[in-house]
Amino acid sequence: MLNFELYNPTKLIFGKNQYEKLKTEIPKNATILMTYGGGSIMKNGVYNNVIKALQGYEIIEFGGIEANPTFETLMKAVAIVKENNIDFILAVGGGSVIDGTKFIAAAANYEGENAWDILAKGALIKTAIPFGTVLTLPATGSEMNSGAVISKKETDEKLVFGSPLLFPKFSITDPTVIQSLPLRQLQNGVIDAYVHVLEQYLTYPSNAFLQDRIAESVLQTLIEVGPKVLKNPSDYIIASNFMWCCTMALNGLLSKGVPTDWATHMIGHELTALHGLDHAQSLAVIGPNLYKVQFEFKKEKLAQYGKRVWNLTGSDEEIAQKAIIKTQEFYQSLGVKTSLSEYSNSYKDTSQIISNRFKERGWIGLGEHKNINLEKVVEIVEMSY
Ligand code: NZQ
Ligand code: ZN
Repeated sequence: MLNFELYNPTKLIFGKNQYEKLKTEIPKNATILMTYGGGSIMKNGVYNNVIKALQGYEIIEFGGIEANPTFETLMKAVAIVKENNIDFILAVGGGSVIDGTKFIAAAANYEGENAWDILAKGALIKTAIPFGTVLTLPATGSEMNSGAVISKKETDEKLVFGSPLLFPKFSITDPTVIQSLPLRQLQNGVIDAYVHVLEQYLTYPSNAFLQDRIAESVLQTLIEVGPKVLKNPSDYIIASNFMWCCTMALNGLLSKGVPTDWATHMIGHELTALHGLDHAQSLAVIGPNLYKVQFEFKKEKLAQYGKRVWNLTGSDEEIAQKAIIKTQEFYQSLGVKTSLSEYSNSYKDTSQIISNRFKERGWIGLGEHKNINLEKVVEIVEMSY
């Protein structure tokens, strides 16, 4: 097992009817900026529940944070935070609203000239406005981690940043919120969580027995509840297990003591930026092809995954090959497409554009071995057409 440090200060408040606790978690006398997305919270009752629980607080609302939140929109919220001496932010939404809120929390206190440097140059975040979340879409794990992904409209870029200062103070995660999710977002949630586990598991053996078993349990639970949650998101048992899987998949625990990959995400982000695929759709397209190109380096873990998660039999080599096919079939069985041409007609230059961008950013060796070079990126993307 590799050395590790574990730090996660987020208080997770899980289950039904937890909104009342907002009052005990948010400091009295706080002036709150409440952030949300395109309005789903108005339709499903979450907005009313939050407002009711926060009676007596001064609240300024900032709605309209889009899926794949943009720098341009978020900077408007940063101005509001500065003008109104906001001392607490409450994000009510999915990964996009929570990620956007992390950026607002960091950019509002950022002293440099251009807050985009936080993303483009990894500028150091020295302080951040405290924030909490009310999660409405299980998928990203953003409710219990300190990372975020922000897009820039002007340049069609999508970049990642993070800081230990950006863990939510608390997150209210109520599994009943998924009842109002469209099928597509449920599909996205299952796949995003599944791929988060694979990014931290499908690498090479590192004698981290417990981590492997935890990762495999999250995968097996997602295989069990994923198809059911699509059919009946009102089933509380299924919804609660699904939601907990999504949080566990990316709250930092699985990555401790093991190598991690994340190249599927880095390439996938470009498909979202260039072709508008939902985040999880991009992962379903790229992931299986990346495992094929990296087969020699991943085959031991692929075989372990095939045996333990899919109960496959045969030689290790055969099991490893079949495990990739099983994974792709799993995504397809959830109704998610696994090739780029099923989403876009104008994809022919994609591999070259991505390769050029990675070169400019100096991303010339991705993955757990840092050996996914630009040629391999091109190969993976072209296999994904
Ligand atoms: O904007 P509203 O009206 O709220 O509608 C949203 C949005 O259209 C809707 N929705 C959310 N909760 C709902 C609901 N509709 C009905 N009922 C509800 N209860 O769903 C749509 C998608 O929401 P979004 O927040 O974009 O989805 P998701 O949670 O999948 O977040 C995706 C973003 O997170 C980033 C992705 O790159 C993407 O930008 N990620 C963040 C990560 C992190 N912070 O750790 C890791 C992930 O790998 C991922 O990259
Ligand atoms: Zn993801």
